[in-house]
Amino acid sequence: MTDESIRVEIDHLRREIERHNDLYYKHASPVISDQEYDALERRLRALEAEYPELAAADSPTVCVGADSDSRFPSRPHSHPMLSLANSYDPLEVTAFVKRLRRDLGREDLVFTVEPKIDGVALAVRYRDGLLTTALTRGDGRSGDDVSDNARTITELPARLDDSWPGVFPGEAPRSFEVRGEAYLRLTRFGQLNRMRAAEGLEPMANPRNATAGTLKTLDSREVARRGLSVFCYQLFSLEPEDAPDLSSHQVEMEVIRSLGLPTNPFLRTATDPEEIMARLDELAVLRQGLDYQIDGAVIKLDDRAQQVSLGATAKSPRWGLAFKFPAAEAVTRLLDITVQVGRTGVITPVAELEPVGLAGSTVSRATLHNWDEMARKDIRIGDTVVVVKGGDIIPKILRVLTDRREGGEYALDQPVDCPVCGTPVQSDPEQVAVRCVNPLCPAVLAGRLRHFAGRDAADIDGLGGKWVDSFLELGLIVTPDDLFNLERDQLAVLPGWGEKSADRLMTGLARAKSRPWSARIFSLGIPQVGVTTARTLAGRFDSIDALCGATAEDLADLPDIGPIVAASIVEFLSHASTSEFINNLKKSGFLLEKEEIEEVDDGGLSGPMAGKTVVLTGTLDNLTRDQAKALIRAAGGKVAGSVSGRTDYVVAGGKAGSKLEKALQWGVEVLDESGFLALVQPGDGNHGND
Ligand code: IVH
Repeated sequence: MTDESIRVEIDHLRREIERHNDLYYKHASPVISDQEYDALERRLRALEAEYPELAAADSPTVCVGADSDSRFPSRPHSHPMLSLANSYDPLEVTAFVKRLRRDLGREDLVFTVEPKIDGVALAVRYRDGLLTTALTRGDGRSGDDVSDNARTITELPARLDDSWPGVFPGEAPRSFEVRGEAYLRLTRFGQLNRMRAAEGLEPMANPRNATAGTLKTLDSREVARRGLSVFCYQLFSLEPEDAPDLSSHQVEMEVIRSLGLPTNPFLRTATDPEEIMARLDELAVLRQGLDYQIDGAVIKLDDRAQQVSLGATAKSPRWGLAFKFPAAEAVTRLLDITVQVGRTGVITPVAELEPVGLAGSTVSRATLHNWDEMARKDIRIGDTVVVVKGGDIIPKILRVLTDRREGGEYALDQPVDCPVCGTPVQSDPEQVAVRCVNPLCPAVLAGRLRHFAGRDAADIDGLGGKWVDSFLELGLIVTPDDLFNLERDQLAVLPGWGEKSADRLMTGLARAKSRPWSARIFSLGIPQVGVTTARTLAGRFDSIDALCGATAEDLADLPDIGPIVAASIVEFLSHASTSEFINNLKKSGFLLEKEEIEEVDDGGLSGPMAGKTVVLTGTLDNLTRDQAKALIRAAGGKVAGSVSGRTDYVVAGGKAGSKLEKALQWGVEVLDESGFLALVQPGDGNHGND
């Protein structure tokens, strides 16, 4: 490269980084992921190191990004408010430890590891026990005075307990400053977005942006309503300066805690890179069950005197390193939009993405929900999009990077005909759904069959999804009742089958007939009726005939059933094709009435989960699904199949799916396996999260 082209690249990088700083700090609406931003900064840093003659005092590698906002008075910081060097690579953790050992000339260093809270930094001053000032980072030298807003944070006492002078190891300062990260709990964020939706407002994109926006709200009552939280992690004495003997970061955190200010419970120590990595791994696991977002871990040299002797660069102290977890956001291309037709005929657009790494897995598809949502986000084929995992689990498209459009992008119109069977579609404005209404649409038939055979329904052993498709293709079956007319000898000669598999399916079909009454109701595939609603119906109605006789009003009187679900049940049951389906099932011995022995679970009379509705998702390490369900029921809880506003807990294991995302949206408390066990078996062990 020529000098000129390097100069051009450096200029371009500086402008880009400044633009992204503005978007992040001032507008709380970044358009690139943290990882992309860090890559730009890294490239600039490398070029500036290689060509020192092109360095500049105002380069963004030297200056901290600014969140300054002219609506708030700006005030100087007591000490510069720096940030930490970022790393995504374990090798850099090793290099960090080596560098510190070399610079300090000793091997016996102690490091602390704690979560890096994905929020907004605040510097809060107390004088004579009273909260006097709270500043945002601003440009690092002075910040915006958001004191009135900070006073609404209930975890930040406006007046400290009278014992506060006693908690300092040395002379108590008259005035001190505590720094920390303001954030929004995920449950609170979910609640706020639900309230916004009810008011017809756009949802807030993520908890960090919501926190930044909240701190910069002029109406403090609104700030109070949002319910911000805070974790503190730094303490300075202001008057007299550096009076208390905070000999280490661990002592600093203890003093902060004794002042009655919140600190994060996860603070671990490590003495070498391997131990640090082990602590980072623990945090990465813990992260899944936290009620707030963390974007990495902060590794700090514990000893204060050693910290001081290392000093800082213009931008960051040398004693700390932020280890960032792989991005929960990624930028990729939307290659195509395919369309799926579900068992109830609902047509859903699905994004086919250029595969991209996201929070530990490769993402190549994301749901687009419906056409309304697509139009709202102006999503077009060919677009560059930001993909996120809601609560880091299921990917969805957060937004389009419209400034990366080249002109060839195009929107996918709502289909006029079903893409599978060609029947004209119907729009269902109440549910913003587009629906194929052909009951014989192959996609609908396959969906119904899979549902019928599924674990919570007829649970037909020996009938995998691919056999459903081939039976349909061969014309052996159309609706689920046809399964019971299949003959053993006819199956045994099918390609890929034999006597064994035929016998297995025959046994599976016979067993299906003795499934619990609620599972048999669920197997009918009534739109909007999940496992929980099926249980409610099974408890109230003894037979399908009794259920068919119920009016929408009768149904809406039942617990957990609203008018939409009630109407959906009545509509399905009154359909001529449903009567035929039900009669055929009855003829084949798949009885649609309650038998003598009823299910035991009546949902929650007593116990630690009494009356609570719990949803399981993902794989637990030590429990099977059935064991987990049994524990919930024994603790007095009800197990539900899907997450709604009425869900009390979601128990999430590994590879948890969309239910976890829903939990986030609804603000439902998420328990990991140990949290769940601690709740249902109190006294049998400790909750591992401190
Ligand atoms: S210590 C020099 N500890 O991450 C700043 N920071 O770039 C030392 N953060 O500016 C800060 N959690 O806004 C520290 N446990 C933690 C943190 C934390 C989040 C933020 C903070 C800081 C940035 C690091």
